[in-house]
Amino acid sequence: MKYDFLTTRRDGTVEHLTLNRPDVRNAFNEYLGHELTHWAEAITVDEEVRAVVLDGAGKVFCAGADLAWMAKMAAYSHEENVRDATAMAHLFYTLDRLPVPLIGRIHGAALGGGAGLAAVCDIVVADDQAVFGFTEVKLGIVPSVISPYVLTKIGVSAARELFLTGMRFDAARAREIGLVHAVVPIADLGARVAEYVREILSAAPDAIATSKELIRKVWGRPAQDTLGITADTIAARRASAEGQEGLKAFLEKRKATWNVSQ
Ligand code: COA
Repeated sequence: MKYDFLTTRRDGTVEHLTLNRPDVRNAFNEYLGHELTHWAEAITVDEEVRAVVLDGAGKVFCAGADLAWMAKMAAYSHEENVRDATAMAHLFYTLDRLPVPLIGRIHGAALGGGAGLAAVCDIVVADDQAVFGFTEVKLGIVPSVISPYVLTKIGVSAARELFLTGMRFDAARAREIGLVHAVVPIADLGARVAEYVREILSAAPDAIATSKELIRKVWGRPAQDTLGITADTIAARRASAEGQEGLKAFLEKRKATWNVSQ
C-alpha cells in the first residue's frame, strides 16, 4: 500500500516510521489512522524487522487527533461515529501489541492522541523542550481510546490530575510519571535512540517478543495466578533453539548469532 501521510524507511532490520502531516503538526484523521493500522498489521508478519522507531515530520511529534475531523463527526450518525472510533481504538490496540519493540522519538509536542502514541511505545526518548498533555477536556472531548495504555503507563493518580485538568506538562514530568524513559537535548535525540536500538539488536528477537507478551499477561494479576504462565514461559524459552544459542554463546565466550552491527 502506498502511504500519503506516513513515510517508512528500512535501515537493515530497523524500520523508521514517520507521521507525515507536518502542516497540521501530524494530527491524525481517519486516513492517517487507516494507514498506521495497515502498517502495524503488516509488520506483525514481517520477521525481518527487529525494532521500529516512530517519529514525526516537521516541528512537532504529534498534535493528536485532527480536530477538524473530530468536529466533522457531529454530522455523522451514532453508528458511524462508533465505527470510526472503534477503528481508532483498534489502531492503538494493534500498536500496543506490536511484536517488535516500538521506540518513540518525541520532539516539540505530543498532545492528546500524540501522548497516547507515546503510551503504546515500549521505549520513549523525548527532547527536553517537548510539551505533553492530555488536553482533550480543554476541547470538550475525552482521552478515551488511549486511556487503557496511558493508565498502564502513568497510573490512576497522575491520570486523575492530567486527564481532568487537560494541563500541559514538560518532558521532565513525563519522565517522572513513566510516559517517557529518557530526556535529552534535541541535538542528542538521534544518538539516544540509536543506543536503545543497539541494545535491542544485541538481544534475541523472539525472547524480546516473548518478554513483551509476558509483561502484558503478568501485569496486574496476583502472583499466585501467574505461576503457570511464568513457569511455562521460561521452560519453553530455555529449551528453544534461540535460548540454547544464547546460553551456549555465553559459555563459549562468543557473540550469539542474532548480534548484528547497525
Ligand atoms: N488538529 C488539526 N489541526 C491542528 C491540530 C490538531 N490537533 N494541531 C495543530 N493544528 C493545525 C493548526 O490549526 C494550524 O493550522 P493553520 O496553519 O491552518 O492555522 C497548524 O496546525 C499549525 O498549528 P500551530 O498551533 O500554529 O503550530 P505550533 O507549532 O505553534 O504549535 C502545537 C503546535 C501542537 C503545540 C499546537 O498546534 C497545539 O497545541 N495543537 C492542539 C493540540 C491538542 O490539543 N491536541 C489534542 C487533540 S485531542
